Amino acid sequence: MKGVHRANRGDSAPRILPERARGPEVGSAPTSFSPGGDPLPSQKFSRKYITRHKKSAQLWRRAARLTPGGVESNIRYFRPHPFLADYGDGGYIYDVDGNKILDFMMGFGALLLGHNNRDIALEVIKQLESGSMLGVTSELFIDYLAAVQKAVPSMRKMRLCNSGTEATMHAIRTARAYSGREKIAKAEGAYHGAHDYVLQSLDMDPRMARNNGYKPVPYGRGIPKAVSDTVVIYPYNDIEGTAAILEENEDEVGTLIVEPVLCGPGVIVPKGNYLKRLRQLTRKRKIVLIFDEVLTGFRLAYGGAQEYYDVRPDMTTFGKIAGGGFQLAGFGGESQIMETLEPGRGWRNATFHAGTYNGHPIGVAAGLKAVQILGEHPEYYEHVNRLGRQLFSGLQDLADDRRIPAWVEYVGSIGNVYFTTKDEIRNFRDTLSANTRRWWNWFIHCLGNNVLFGIPNTGERAFLSTEHTDEDIEWALEVADGAFAAIAKEAHRHREKAPAVQLQAAGEQAAMYGEAPPPSV
Ligand SMILES: Cc1ncc(COP(=O)(O)O)c(C=O)c1O
Repeated sequence: MKGVHRANRGDSAPRILPERARGPEVGSAPTSFSPGGDPLPSQKFSRKYITRHKKSAQLWRRAARLTPGGVESNIRYFRPHPFLADYGDGGYIYDVDGNKILDFMMGFGALLLGHNNRDIALEVIKQLESGSMLGVTSELFIDYLAAVQKAVPSMRKMRLCNSGTEATMHAIRTARAYSGREKIAKAEGAYHGAHDYVLQSLDMDPRMARNNGYKPVPYGRGIPKAVSDTVVIYPYNDIEGTAAILEENEDEVGTLIVEPVLCGPGVIVPKGNYLKRLRQLTRKRKIVLIFDEVLTGFRLAYGGAQEYYDVRPDMTTFGKIAGGGFQLAGFGGESQIMETLEPGRGWRNATFHAGTYNGHPIGVAAGLKAVQILGEHPEYYEHVNRLGRQLFSGLQDLADDRRIPAWVEYVGSIGNVYFTTKDEIRNFRDTLSANTRRWWNWFIHCLGNNVLFGIPNTGERAFLSTEHTDEDIEWALEVADGAFAAIAKEAHRHREKAPAVQLQAAGEQAAMYGEAPPPSV
């Protein structure tokens, strides 16, 4: 691993960067809108962040006049406002206000090898000299496919595309064509990208979950009901529940897609052989089993979650780490399934897959280098998994010591803090009673102290990279403890002030979720 610049722990004076030219002021000023309807972190917890991000706020306001929310993707929006990056290096992001931020978001999990990996950058530069885009198959492309197949042998054949969203969309179409059955099964809470097939039952309010059974709930507006009607929702980690849903929809469901570790609602690990039993169940029912490994691929192990949990799916989707920080993704599976795509069959009989930038040589060169590095360095996995244990078990201990009800769920180098009285998270519904205001307060307090604890949204997660060090973890835990302490103090204050009736209501609400009443903090 290459050395990283040491943290200045956020204490350095902000660097003054030249103002960029002002763009045309069109559109309206941003509103205080939250895409997930999450609460605004309280002012007290945000103060330091706001003070340290004045230039970010100014630039973001300009961005918000040009693009909804001032961001490239809804997930990047958070309140009081996002910060803007200057550059990334190793395990850190350097922002436009001169802050050096310890990054546990790591490009939404794509940057297992850290920001600005030199070996990958050199491959990219080399490839650029041969043309940025060829539109014709090259040997580089074959080498990449062979390298991915070596890591994930269940993919006998593959196709490339540009994002995880495309990968799951094409994989589902292929699986539908192969099985001849239109409906797909998707776990409640799972995220498989931003296309209509899978933007179903990603979030809902607790009342809806109680009254709705497992009917698909479109995530946001603009998704045709006709598409939702092709999706059945199953409960992750509940094999009997999953079997019952498939039984109910017998002869209609031909595809089941799963995040092997359910990360849509944060991080939820498979319990009690769930994945192995899912394999048996889908095989018995002749359902194509797709492991969506866009997030877990090359992260949990070189061979992804399927190696980690020793389960062979029929199809796999991959992206993020597999592109070495560039736009590259793909899908693959058993030959007979992938042969559905054979162009020689003619358009009527083949399943269509295309894309101008598919297998873009820059992404492929970067991805090949990343996959090679990871294949040559099994110790990198030991490193990130050890740091993951240190960080996430450390967070649990700190929350416990401060008597803050919390559960830290993690596997390997991914984890998430749920502010909940539950001591086990098995599925999406278990996350609904988590205290999101507390999470935001904790998160923004940490970010104000220059630690970015993962993707800025409740129900997301933090990622380690090979560039993080023991010292980084120590510092992150110190900062996190400060945030837990502030939350404990606030909770005490509220409890002292809370009228008896409010405490009773909190107790009743907890009981509704089968939880213990909130403890004294
Ligand atoms: C499991 C999973 N599938 C698919 C996607 C979509 O990938 P992309 O953002 O590259 O479209 C993601 C993105 O986070 C993901 O985590």
